[in-house]
Amino acid sequence: MSNNASLRVISSSADERIYVTQPHLPPLSEFIPYLEKIWDSKLLTNGGPFHVQLERALCEYLGVPHLSLFTNGTLALVTALQALRITGEVITTPYSFVATAHSLLWNGIKPVFVDVEPNTLNLDPAKIEAAITPQTTAILPVHCYGHPCDVEAIQKIADNYNLKVIYDAAHAFGVRDDSGSVLRRGDLSVLSFHATKVFNTFEGGAIICPDAKTKQRIDHLKNFGFVDEVTVVASGINGKMSEINAAFGMLQLKHIDHALARRKEIDATYRELLRDVPGIRCLPSAGETAANYSYFPILVNAEYPASRDALYQTLRDNNIYARRYFYPLISDFPMYRGLPSARRENLPVAAEAALKVLCLPIYPSLSNDNVERIVRIIADC
Ligand SMILES: Cc1ncc(COP(=O)(O)O)c(C=O)c1O
Repeated sequence: MSNNASLRVISSSADERIYVTQPHLPPLSEFIPYLEKIWDSKLLTNGGPFHVQLERALCEYLGVPHLSLFTNGTLALVTALQALRITGEVITTPYSFVATAHSLLWNGIKPVFVDVEPNTLNLDPAKIEAAITPQTTAILPVHCYGHPCDVEAIQKIADNYNLKVIYDAAHAFGVRDDSGSVLRRGDLSVLSFHATKVFNTFEGGAIICPDAKTKQRIDHLKNFGFVDEVTVVASGINGKMSEINAAFGMLQLKHIDHALARRKEIDATYRELLRDVPGIRCLPSAGETAANYSYFPILVNAEYPASRDALYQTLRDNNIYARRYFYPLISDFPMYRGLPSARRENLPVAAEAALKVLCLPIYPSLSNDNVERIVRIIADC
C-alpha cells in the first residue's frame, strides 16, 4: 500500500469515538520484514542493528549532532539530569505533563515553578531571574505543544548565572526555527516517542546532545552504568530502547512527512473555521519555521457562551474526546502544592490557561468532515 493510501481520510458517522489523537500506524504488512530481521538475528535489545540505524537516521532527519534512544521520554528526562549532574533547585514550568517535574523529584531535585507567558504558554524568561537562588543549577523549560520557547532569552539568563538548560522537547519533534532544529538548543533536549506523539515508537524517547563525549556518558547511564563487561562507572538505569521499538521507528520515519503534511492541513482548517467563533482563541505559532502541529489547543475565553468545562462535556456527549492539556497544573498535584513556588499568586498566567484550554483532536487520519463537525459543535454550543 502506498504512503498516501495509508493516510486515506475516511469520513465517518457521529457515533464514532474521536479521541484527541490516534497513532499513525503504517500498514502491518510493511512491518513484517522488520520483524523477520529481528527473528533472524535474535538481537532483541542492547544496542542492536535497528537501534544503531534509528539513532543515525533520526540525527539526519532532525538535523542534530548526537542522539541516544531511550525506552521512554520520562527515563530520558531523568537520565538527562543525571548526565549533567544537576542538583539543588531547577526552574521549570507548571504548565506541562507531570513527567517534567517528576523527573526532578526522581533525582532529589527541588522544582521551582515559574509562570508562563500568555502567547505560547511556555516558561516566561522575564520571570526566571527572580526565582534564581544560590541553589539553582539549571532551567528545565518545555516547548509546549511543539511551539519553541524563547530560547535566546533563556540562554542569556543561563549564561549570566552559569546554569544548565535541559529542554523537555517531548512535543517538539521536527520543529525548526531560523537557525535549524530547536532540539539543538540548550545543553540537552529530550524527546518522547510515546504512542500519542507525532513520531511514535509505541513507547520511546531520546536525548539530543551536542558532542560524542556526552553521548557516551548518556549511553553508559542508560545501560546500568556499564562501560564494559566488568566496569560500572555510575548508578545507571535500564533505559535502553528495544529492537522492536527501534525497527518500528525506522518504518515510521518513512511515513512521517506525509503525516506532518496532513496535520498541517487540519491545523489550517481548524484555524480558518474557528476564526469567527466569538470567544475562541487559537494559539499562534511561536516563530518556528517548521512546525509539527502536534496539538491543536484552543482557549475558551469569557465571550464564549459556555465555560471550557461545559464545552468539553458537550464535545464528549457527541463522542469527541478533547483533552484539557494542561489541567490541573503540575504545581497543583499533592507532591508539589506545598512548595512556595506552587502558590497561585506566583503562577497567574498558567492558572488562567489551565482553566481555559482545550486540545481538539488532531491526527493524520482525522477526516475533514470530522473537523467540520467538531467546529460546528463548538460554534453551536
Ligand atoms: C511535556 C512532556 N514531557 C514528558 C513526557 C513523558 O514522555 P513519555 O510518556 O515518553 O515518558 C510527556 C508525554 O508523555 C510530555 O508531554
